Order: sequence, then C-alpha cells, then structure tokens
Amino acid sequence: MSKVEISDSIRYIGCDDHTIDLFESQYKVPNGVSYNSYLIIDDKIAIMDTVDSRVTKEWIDKLESELSGRKPDYLVISHMEPDHSSNIGLLGERYPELKFVVNTKTFPMLKQFFDMDISNRTIEVKEGDTLALGKHTLQFIMAPMVHWPEVMMEYEITEKVLFSADGFGKFGALDINEEWDSEARRYYINIVGKYGASVQAILKKAANLDIQMICPLHGPILKENLAHYIEKYDIWSSYRPEDKGVTIAFASIHGNTGIAAKKMAEILKARGETVSIFDLSRDDMSEAVADAFRYDKLIIASPTYDAALFPVMEDFLYHLKIKNYQNRKIGIIENGTWSPVAGKLMKMYIEQLKNCEIIEPMVTIKSTMNQNNIETMEKLADAMFV
Ligand code: FEO
Repeated sequence: MSKVEISDSIRYIGCDDHTIDLFESQYKVPNGVSYNSYLIIDDKIAIMDTVDSRVTKEWIDKLESELSGRKPDYLVISHMEPDHSSNIGLLGERYPELKFVVNTKTFPMLKQFFDMDISNRTIEVKEGDTLALGKHTLQFIMAPMVHWPEVMMEYEITEKVLFSADGFGKFGALDINEEWDSEARRYYINIVGKYGASVQAILKKAANLDIQMICPLHGPILKENLAHYIEKYDIWSSYRPEDKGVTIAFASIHGNTGIAAKKMAEILKARGETVSIFDLSRDDMSEAVADAFRYDKLIIASPTYDAALFPVMEDFLYHLKIKNYQNRKIGIIENGTWSPVAGKLMKMYIEQLKNCEIIEPMVTIKSTMNQNNIETMEKLADAMFV
C-alpha cells in the first residue's frame, strides 16, 4: 500500500479495509473503506482518533512504528462511533499516562462503550478551546450531529489542517484511485444526510478558518481545490439539487411496472433530459437514495401489493423520509390489477416531505402499460419541465 503523506509532523496511521461486506451493516463498499487515524508529533504527541476493531493490529503496528519508542500524550476523540473508537480501551491499557481529550457529550458514551476508570485521565474541551502540543496547537470546534451528538472537529493552527471527523469522508479505500464526488455523495447522503442543518452550522464556522488541508475519518486527505469539496457539502447539506435531471426509482413484481418505468425514461431521454433509473429490488438502495438527492426531479413507480406498497418502494420512501429529502418535484406511476392504491400511498409519503411538489397527472397502469398510459406519461413529462 502506498504511504499517505501529510507532513513531517502529521502522520497518517489509518488503515484500509477491503474485507468488510457492508459498512454499518447496510452500505456496499465495492472498493472498501478507510478508517483514518493521525498522529501529530511535537513536544507532545497526539493521536487523532483510533480505528475500527477490524484493523486493530495493522493500526497498532503503524502507531508504534511512527512513535519510534516515544509515548503518546493525548488521544483526541472526535467521534465515538465504533469505526473510530474501538481501540480507546486498548490504548488506555497500553499507555497508562495517556490523556483522553473529550467534550461533555463524550463522557457518557465512553462509559457505555468501555468499562474503565477514566476519572483522572480526561481533558474536557469546549468550543474554541486550544491544546498546545509544541509548535502545533489544536483548536476545538464542536460539531454536534455531524454525525453523532458528541462529534467535534479540530483545527491545527500552524499547518492549517482541519480534522473533520466524518465530514468530507468518502467510501473507498485509499489504495483505490477513484473520483471523489460520487462515493462521497453516497457516503454523505446516506450517513450524514439527515443532519443538513448541523453541517450548515459547521460550514459557517469553517468559513472563518484558513484551511489548507482537510483530514477526514474516511477517504482521502483533501489538499487541493478545497472550494470544490466545500461547495458540494454546502449543496448537499442545504438539500439543494446538485444537477438537473430525473431519478426514476421503480419497484416491479413481474416486470410490468418496470416496463412502464423504462418507457418513462425513454420519453425523458428523447427530450434530452438526464435520467438515472433504479430497479429497487436489484440495484443498490444507497445509490438510488444518493441520486434522488443529486437530481432535481424524481419519478417513483410501484405496484400495489397486499393493498399496500411493494416493500422495496416502501423502504425507498422510508429512506427518503429519514434522510430529510426535500425541495424536489415528484411524479408518480402506480400499478394494480384490481384495486390500485400504490399511488395514494406514495402521495401520503410525499406529503410528509418538506417542500416536495407532486406533479400531475399520476399514471395509473392496470396490469400492463397501454397506449393511454404512454400518453399520460408524455403529459407527466410536459408537466415536470414547465
Ligand atoms: Fe465513521 Fe459516524 O462514523
């Protein structure tokens, strides 16, 4: 694996994981994921977060190699989610002099996750506090709900580095060379997406800092063109569409609703529109959710099933609701062989979403798409682009 370079004093000691099947037991990570951890070496030594228990041995080896026989003074705990905190107990035992740098919301979580006496080993920090390491000084920035309540970020004043916790993270291991936007979007929308207001608050604080480098807890260290990443975070966290286009998400039992959804895609593409289409039974849910956020329009298509929605559509709409999906135009295609109710149920979901406009006409298919349905789809396409 190539070495991740930051600076002479700030060393990368994180680890790639290509063996995990599902990150957080729900997200496919075909290119793995990295658990980032850093070491700041100065008069005092600070470890910036630990890593997931899946990579403990590799991480300890890297830590000890970079320490070259010295002992760490501080463990800065930005986030207590186990992909970053799993080795806190191990570090506490290994280095009895180590102090834990935490905030008031970290304490109860530390006690819940670890059975150890931390009473004389914590340094509690709050917004704006600083910790001098020598030539380097950490300034603490509280970032509640990006993505848990105890999250904090640290700004290293001398090298102008922002340690951004889960913020600006990305799926994909660091030994994979891939475009940032797509997997960072999927990561952000699905993991932090609900907490847009909290991200907006942290972006406002960050705007007052001269940031030369961003060191997140997942994904690559960002060193250049930081305005690009910050702009993406501003768009995503304010629930603004990123691009013009239509996401079509369909559920289909025997294929007939799928045929209609694909016809809708054909109609839109013939008009020169960008279309991203997902079969919710087979395609990745997190990609469908991410693209629903990416584009300014959404069309959902589902059959009626047991006088309810087909389960994968219910699941998709549930995801949109809990991720605070808003500010979009939404068209509906329903199917039902005898008493179609899918359209009514999808509308009820959409009515719970902030500032989402249902675009008429709704397309109602009875078993299989017919010429009338195609004409209604053309009208729906007209209405979506007025
Ligand atoms: Fe990567 Fe919220 O933990």
